[in-house]
Amino acid sequence: MRKLIAAMTLFLASHGVSDTRIIGGDTVTQSQEFMVTLFKKGRFNYFFSCGGSLLDNEWILTAAHCVDQDEPEDLAVVVGELLPFESSAELQLISEVIVHPNYVGSDTDYDFDIALLRLAAPISNESLDIASSDLPTGTDLTVMGWGSTDLEDYSESLQSVIVEVVSQSTCEHQYTVEIDGSLVELISDNMMCAADTNKDSCSGDSGGPLMIQSEGQYFQVGIVSWGFGCADEDFSGVYIRVDRFLDWINSYKTERESLIQVDVQNSDGGSSKGAITWLTLVACLAFCRRKAR
Ligand code: ARG
Repeated sequence: MRKLIAAMTLFLASHGVSDTRIIGGDTVTQSQEFMVTLFKKGRFNYFFSCGGSLLDNEWILTAAHCVDQDEPEDLAVVVGELLPFESSAELQLISEVIVHPNYVGSDTDYDFDIALLRLAAPISNESLDIASSDLPTGTDLTVMGWGSTDLEDYSESLQSVIVEVVSQSTCEHQYTVEIDGSLVELISDNMMCAADTNKDSCSGDSGGPLMIQSEGQYFQVGIVSWGFGCADEDFSGVYIRVDRFLDWINSYKTERESLIQVDVQNSDGGSSKGAITWLTLVACLAFCRRKAR
């Protein structure tokens, strides 16, 4: 076991976060008014940095690691554009950056990777509501962003991909690594994993939303945070569970957010996979007992 973990650490060191291949998504053609593209001010122009989502007419949700070094005047966003790099896309200024106070962002602690941005001037775009992140393993979730694809460093047009909820125990197992001779559990209760074969979010997608779809509408479940490589079969994408931060978010907003209950019964795979696991367990229990006698 130890050897395996040591090998894994080595593997991680060599594969690191530098793998910019994949996503396996599709170009979004329908307008997504809540999608936010985050830009940072360079010496001569703005450059693309992360994704985000619109919570109401003035607050944006993103990842702490996208903005923890920035002052409001260093940032600008484009809201609700599929092609935010076109010169016609309108830049909006930011008046406040609020990084979660518990965010550390060290190599071994990526917890509390959540931040709020306040728009300098409110806008009327449609926003995203928040849904529970306690979902059955296998539930389909959608993640969107302009991050790395298998062809480019970032995508000119918004991409969308469907990934499945990974069980918390698998997620924890994947990300228990040996650092300086001791085992470190990188997954906290504020994180969840989602993955699918050759599908994942990747660098540049951070801060963007992980969503559940119900009756044609999206609800935010997570924030793109981190992962070892991209679409690596051994490592899932890691997301911040937004529902865990509802009180924190509401402490800044005048318009309170509440948790939307989404029926996951019709999201295919989820409940049926759960049922299969239970069936196997029951069958095995009966069988194993007989054998033991
Ligand atoms: N940290 C990356 C960013 O800043 C997001 C990486 C997500 N990785 C993954 N395998 N899903 O954009």
